[in-house]
Amino acid sequence: MGRIAITGATGFIGGTVAAVLAERGDDIRCLVRRDPGGDFPWPFEVVDPTSTESLTQALDGYDGIAHLAILNDFHGLYADRRAGHDGYVGLTRRVVDAANAVGARVGYVSTDWVFDGTGHLVPEDEPPNPVNLYGYLKAASELVVLHRAREGFVARVGGVQGLHQTMSGGPRSQDVGFGYFVLALVDSLRGGNRFTVWEDPAINSVATPIVSAQIASLLRRAFDRGASGVLHFAGGTAVTRRDLAEATCRVFGLDAGLVSYGPPPDSARIPAPVPYDTSMSGEVTAALLGTRTWAIEDQLGSLEQEISSGRPVPLS
Ligand SMILES: NC(=O)c1ccc[n+]([C@@H]2O[C@H](COP(=O)([O-])OP(=O)(O)OC[C@H]3O[C@@H](n4cnc5c(N)ncnc54)[C@H](OP(=O)(O)O)[C@@H]3O)[C@@H](O)[C@H]2O)c1
Repeated sequence: MGRIAITGATGFIGGTVAAVLAERGDDIRCLVRRDPGGDFPWPFEVVDPTSTESLTQALDGYDGIAHLAILNDFHGLYADRRAGHDGYVGLTRRVVDAANAVGARVGYVSTDWVFDGTGHLVPEDEPPNPVNLYGYLKAASELVVLHRAREGFVARVGGVQGLHQTMSGGPRSQDVGFGYFVLALVDSLRGGNRFTVWEDPAINSVATPIVSAQIASLLRRAFDRGASGVLHFAGGTAVTRRDLAEATCRVFGLDAGLVSYGPPPDSARIPAPVPYDTSMSGEVTAALLGTRTWAIEDQLGSLEQEISSGRPVPLS
């Protein structure tokens, strides 16, 4: 059993990390910036994320911190670059300094969007080359962890599928990345509605999807084993958006006849380049953590169980 603090636990992946670690008996504490309300399911402490001292006090006695909080507002990053930089790089620097002060290991969740999208199944030592501000800020935050944390690792994830643990409504709509794609498709087809899978060279078109439940499980292994350096928490299958739609129909038993293919609406495009193929190889990481990667059908099976039970279902 570990003592792990978590930033971003009111968010999508952070909530799943909290749920899985709590379920497995870890002593967790969610560091939040405002009181999340009486029905928040896990122990929390309100901190001032702009203050290293506040973060240090909250981390006292903890072995590690899973850092997932980000200023998740793609347009806002461009509109206010100073706030954007602080919401990624500044916040990560404060988290790292607090962790160093109390001797805690930092586990930083990063993204496949640190790559430029010209690779395929890229390994952990592939040098990043971000093509937009979000990717740049994540790559810069990675360097803070890699070069400033006394003990720490970077875990890149992409194509993340799963339920939001504390926000029942969403998010669950298709965008120019792969996140939430499967839930959006399942919602439409189960409702008897048609779904257009976006295909376009200017959007993220190939990835290695993984369920958020498995990200949580791999994070726990990485803390347990004292991991360092760059890890890839990737699913075992590189898929196009079309492959993912077809696999979802097979695994969920949905009518593939309701699926069509076409370009995204202009309103969905973002005013910056988007990496095309962000598939990552997670084989080296999996071996390091004493597990294996899981094919897309396994990832979708886990998601199907999560939807029916309401609880995340890690694959290992
Ligand atoms: N979702 C994906 O598909 C995906 C893919 C690749 C990588 N990632 C990475 O995974 C991590 C989690 O992403 P997510 O999708 O779960 O994010 P999310 O749902 O948008 O959650 C963001 C979290 O960060 C907190 N936060 C925002 N600004 C903050 C600030 N200035 N100080 C402290 N906390 C702040 C939010 O807290 P409040 O509730 O207080 O706003 C929330 O808990 C991120 O690092 C992201 O880069 C996500």
